[in-house]
Amino acid sequence: MTQLIKTQADIEGMRIAGRLAGQVLDYIGHFVKPGVSTEELNRLCHDYIVNVQAAIPAPLNYGAAPGRPGFPKSICTSVNHVVCHGIPSETKILKDGDSINIDVTVIKNGYHGDTSKMFVAGKASILSERLIRVTQECMYRGIAVVKPGARLGDIGHAIQRHAEANRFSVVRDFCGHGIGKVFHEEPQVLHYGQPGTGMALQAGMIFTIEPMINAGTYHTKVLPDGWTAVTKDHKLSAQWEHTVLVTGTGVEILTARREEDLSFLAP
Ligand code: MF3
Ligand code: CO
Ligand code: CO
Repeated sequence: MTQLIKTQADIEGMRIAGRLAGQVLDYIGHFVKPGVSTEELNRLCHDYIVNVQAAIPAPLNYGAAPGRPGFPKSICTSVNHVVCHGIPSETKILKDGDSINIDVTVIKNGYHGDTSKMFVAGKASILSERLIRVTQECMYRGIAVVKPGARLGDIGHAIQRHAEANRFSVVRDFCGHGIGKVFHEEPQVLHYGQPGTGMALQAGMIFTIEPMINAGTYHTKVLPDGWTAVTKDHKLSAQWEHTVLVTGTGVEILTARREEDLSFLAP
């Protein structure tokens, strides 16, 4: 059984891991431009996590099972219509206007920090820019709901409402998750749902909120590599992710970056 309520020592460890994961995104942003390969971004992140942070990239070899290879790289790089779990590759070279989600999970002193953001190589299309902005707003609206006594369905509802008000759709096939010494643990955090339903939040819970929002329909499929999830209609997808702690009065974003405007959390 998962220990849903973290100890003070766990929380301290998760703060450190979360900060490091956010710092990887700060670092890699400088390298996202037309002409760079996703393998180069992977190599840069891997070396930064291992050599500068003295941490472990959690995705590397994650999820191996009989008949299924583990994830082969240290970060996920999901370009344009890739929804999540894109595999970095020497042959995937970013071109002007490509959007990319870089998803970083580090392990430090046994604790996981999991976060992702969208970048654009060169200049984004109007549609891509709007999808990326609305998806970030969806994540922030989900986070803003978090406090003791709120329900998981309240988070999903806040996200779904904003996505659909903008004529986008919420991916159903992947969700947020509890996280701590284990990468993916209970509870599942759906990015759609009904207010007043689902598990009640309690101080000390830690989980991710990581909405994937599509420009077309919400259907996805996984490519034969066993990992890469793409939109069925090949239209654009975007995703943002934070790891959050339920505090006594609200929420603390463990993976927050300095560039972020978090004034929406102020009372
Ligand atoms: N970081 C992803 C998440 O947000 C999981 C990646 S699993 C991997 O949950 F194996 F694809 F790396
Ligand atoms: Co996650
Ligand atoms: Co992630």
